[in-house]
This record gives sequence, C-alpha cells and structure tokens, in this order.
Amino acid sequence: MVEFRIEAKEKSRNEKKTLDSVKPQKLSQIKSITRARVKTGIEEFDRVLGGGVLPGAVILVAGEPGIGKSTLMLQVVAKTGGLYISGEESLEQIKLRSGRLGVRNPDLLFLAETDVDVMTQSLEAQSPKLIVVDSIQTMQTDDLTGTAGSVGQVRECAARLLKIGKSRGIPVLLVGHITKAGAIAGPKVLEHMVDTVVYFEGERFGTARLLRATKNRFGATDEVGIFEMTDKGLAEVANPSKLFLKKRVKKVPGSVVVSTMEGTRPVLAEVQALVVPTQLAVPRRIGRGVDYHRLQLIAAVLTKRLNLPLAGFDIFINVAGGLRVEEPAADLGIALAILSSFKNIPLDDKVVVFGELGLLGELREVSQAEKRAREARRLGFMTIISPLKFSSLSQVAKQLLR
Ligand code: TYD
Ligand code: MG
Repeated sequence: MVEFRIEAKEKSRNEKKTLDSVKPQKLSQIKSITRARVKTGIEEFDRVLGGGVLPGAVILVAGEPGIGKSTLMLQVVAKTGGLYISGEESLEQIKLRSGRLGVRNPDLLFLAETDVDVMTQSLEAQSPKLIVVDSIQTMQTDDLTGTAGSVGQVRECAARLLKIGKSRGIPVLLVGHITKAGAIAGPKVLEHMVDTVVYFEGERFGTARLLRATKNRFGATDEVGIFEMTDKGLAEVANPSKLFLKKRVKKVPGSVVVSTMEGTRPVLAEVQALVVPTQLAVPRRIGRGVDYHRLQLIAAVLTKRLNLPLAGFDIFINVAGGLRVEEPAADLGIALAILSSFKNIPLDDKVVVFGELGLLGELREVSQAEKRAREARRLGFMTIISPLKFSSLSQVAKQLLR
C-alpha cells in the first residue's frame, strides 16, 4: 500500500487556464530557449550530464551506501558554490570531511535538516546556486504519516524539492541510496520524476568509481565518468586504461587484455580466468565483472568448437579493478583467458583483443573497432587481435596459444 495526499483543488479564477494556452502550437511557433549549462568544474561529472548542469534541472545521484555519493556531492558544491543539505550527517561530520577533501570555498552553505517543509521555508529567503539534498531517503514531511524513506515520503519530498528547483531555476541534486537487491523504496520510484538519473558504481573495496547516466532529458546517456577514490576524495581519471591495468602481472596464464568501450571512450581492461578441475557434479561458472549468461555461452562454444573438456572444470572469471565488461566485444577476451588458463600457456603481454563470439565459433565485428585499436596502440600494445584480421576463434587460438 502506498500512502498519498489528496490536495484540495482551489484554483482561483485568474489561475484558470485560458483557452489560448491550451491551443496546440506549431513547432515553428514554439520559442526556443537556450539555457546556459553551469559547468561544475569536475570534468568527469560534467561529461556524464552532457556538458554541465542546467538551471532548474533535477538530478538523481543513486548508488550503494558507502560508494562515495556524499563525497562526490561535497566536491561538486565546493566547486560551484551552493547549499548542501544533509539529513545523514551532522555539520561537524561534514566539516571533518571537507577538511579531508581540502574544501576551502568560504561561500558554501550547509544545513543539517530532514524536514522538507522547514527547508522549503528557509529556501524562500535565499537563492543558492545549486542545492544538494543528501539523501532523499532521510527527508520527510509532516503532511504524511509514513516514516522517512517510505515510498510515499520519498516521492512527496522529491516533488516538493523539484518544485523549488523548477520555479526558481536552481539545479537540485538528490542523493538516493540503492541496495544490491534494488531497494523498492529507493530511487527507482523517483526515476520518472527527475530530469537526469546517474548511477555511481564501483567495487566497494576497490578504488575505481564509475558514474553512468541512465536517463537524461538534456543530453545523451552514453557517457561515463571515471573516478578514483583516494584519501583526499575522488580524483578524476583522465587515463582509465592505466588505472585498470595498474596491477597487471605479465606472462601469467589466464590473463588477457581487452579493449572495451565505456560510453564513447575506449578503455583497456584485464580479464582473468582460472580453470581448475571440479569437485562437483555440476561445474561452477563464476564471473565477476562479466555477464553470466555470456560466460556460459562462451564455455559452451569452447567445449564444442575447440573440443575443450570443460565439463570437468570450474571456471572463475574476474575483471581486474572492478570494471564491468558486459558487452559482447569482450567475448573473445574471455574465451582466450579461459583457453590460456586451461592450457597453462600465457599470452604475449603486448596483445590486446576484442570481438564478439558467435555460436559457431566465428568472430563477429563490433562497433568502434578503430577507436578500440587506437587506444591499444597508444598504450604500447603491438598485437591487436580482432574480427578485422581473424574470422574464427580456432584461428586465433592457433595463432596465440600454440
Ligand atoms: P561516502 O561519500 O560517505 O559514501 P556514500 O555517501 O555513498 O554513502 O564515502 C564512503 C567511503 O569513502 C568511506 O568508506 C570512506 C571513503 N572515503 C575515502 O576513501 N576518501 C575520502 O576522501 C573520503 C571523504 C571518503
Ligand atoms: Mg552519504
């Protein structure tokens, strides 16, 4: 059951819509507005939003607890100026964090508050450049009976904050928690209300963090922002390939470097495989950072097309650095990693691969092949194995793993 409020409908006479304003208009008649985007100065963040924040835009920043949402938001307001409203931390805690991040913008305003109505009133007297609300799950209004974080409260509070943003032209950033299970009362209920939804993700114990837009009324959703969590907050990563290959151990069987696309940027990542005899009736296929169903499919193709007796082996796959390579272009990399571990033969450390694997063991072309290859060459990988040069998995296997 979801609680909602029945608003009294009191429209005064002059507020009533005139017939004129409900008349459909021709596209040519509609005035176009060009609103300038506000750059936050954090390039990876601006990139994901499509070049900056638009006045009055409401942006939902969602992510698992502890991933770094508050840190990112504090860094954003520190750059742009504005008001940071926290319902989770005390002002003293925020002060401590800003010290750690080296925030020195004297015009920053902070408010520790969970009551949306008090907040709305206090905002009437001021007009900050930007508002951060951390988090929407802690906000509540007395007009509803549900506890903070319930679907009704989350939705109503967001609606009220949205109104402030829209009517005053102030960008509003809402922080929302999600859990691994995809929390019901979480930001999912807000996705259709806000203009932009960005997800902040990464491995909690790793340092890489990715910011992805899943919805954007004001831009594309194919850009990805890449950050690294350091002891002084989030650092932008200009060269993601270096970050993801940092700890690579060369000349070990089971390691393959793939060229994958993160948004419109190519990124090199290391796929690791471990193939060991199984103790179970049904062998294990465990993948981290790869698509489970594709892993099954690749194992099946290897079994059939290369006569690999994989039924007797467990397969573990890991993508180093916490990156997720779920696109089909990673197929060939995963297949070769399995093969390399199975045969106990390492690949040459200057090899980069990409390509989709068909059920017949054939290699299929993937998008942006030139960009992927260029990134590999830029980082000194001399041998590029792709569907442009090879037509089947067995052909590649013969060439690389003799
Ligand atoms: P936080 O922004 O509080 O996460 P969220 O708001 O998404 O719950 O940050 C969580 C983690 O980040 C915390 O475990 C500590 C770590 N951290 C750093 O490693 N470096 C830093 O400079 C800061 C501020 C946090
Ligand atoms: Mg937080």
